[in-house]
Amino acid sequence: MSNQAFDTHALRRALGNFATGITVVTAQSPEGERIGLTVNSFNSVSLDPPLVLWSLDKRSVDSLDVIRRANHFAVNILAADQLDLSNQFARPHSDKFANIDYREGPGRAPLLEGCAARFHCTLHETVDAGDHWILIGRVLDFDDFGRAPLLYHQGAYSLVLPHPRLQQRPAAAPREPELESRLANNLLYLMLQAVNAYQSAYLPKQQALGLSVSEARVLILLSVLEDGREERLQRESSLPGSEVREALENLEHAGLVAAQEGGGYRLSPVGMERARQYWAMSEQEQAQVFAEFDASQIELFKQILNSIIRRA
Ligand SMILES: Cc1cc2nc3c(=O)[nH]c(=O)nc-3n(C[C@H](O)[C@H](O)[C@H](O)COP(=O)(O)O)c2cc1C
Repeated sequence: MSNQAFDTHALRRALGNFATGITVVTAQSPEGERIGLTVNSFNSVSLDPPLVLWSLDKRSVDSLDVIRRANHFAVNILAADQLDLSNQFARPHSDKFANIDYREGPGRAPLLEGCAARFHCTLHETVDAGDHWILIGRVLDFDDFGRAPLLYHQGAYSLVLPHPRLQQRPAAAPREPELESRLANNLLYLMLQAVNAYQSAYLPKQQALGLSVSEARVLILLSVLEDGREERLQRESSLPGSEVREALENLEHAGLVAAQEGGGYRLSPVGMERARQYWAMSEQEQAQVFAEFDASQIELFKQILNSIIRRA
């Protein structure tokens, strides 16, 4: 028992403000039992000797057992397009490796394909820490593929966006004309600046409505989906199943959603009003941002954006 009566939901929610990458930690026992789980508690510890750490929920008894027997594990840092892999390894399943491409690394630990980086480790130390074990690994080898990483923030997957430093430059420090002209003609740079400008004005207003990213997404989806069951919400929201559940619990606690008798969830009248505020706010913001353009210009803008999206 802790001596401090924290609300663990609130603590977990506050911790979710710390954005992280996502990894899948894997191991295989000498007898061939494989384990793999999605982990965002990974961090670097030391360069010399090379050490990394992550924490393992004590309820994952089988995972700890296999890692101890293997005395090795691999940390696979997921790339931006590996969201399904993250969800697959976050769910209990008898064979999480079904249909997964991998090869064996040191200590037979499964190495996943398509990652941003991978660290091959021996188990250096296991530290008892509350309801988790801290596992410290000594890095034997690593692969650096440099792919864009998958991120995690407030219970939702995210992507890296270069920070464009939007602040006005002081007149005394003008940019070199060549740099200015190259940036002014670089459409990717302009798109990033535009998204950042839009977001920095809009997100604080959205956050002022009081919900985390994952809660807001679930609320908004419930306002339009006929079927409010967890599986459907998970499919449409791209959130991990555990986050959809946590968001539903928080929303239920706040009186915004109610569980249905036949399964699934529905917005309460207060929840409907809150969802209406989210929709109205997004429409208002868009109307303001694009106020100086007429309908045909906006149509052309949509065509350009859609054609860029289709190339992906
Ligand atoms: C984004 C994300 C991060 C997670 N991070 C951790 C973590 O750091 N440590 C952990 O023990 N579980 C973490 N989990 C939960 C495990 O992935 C999940 O409970 C998994 O099913 C455990 O596997 P096992 O029961 O086969 O050991 C995370 C889940 C998600 C979706």
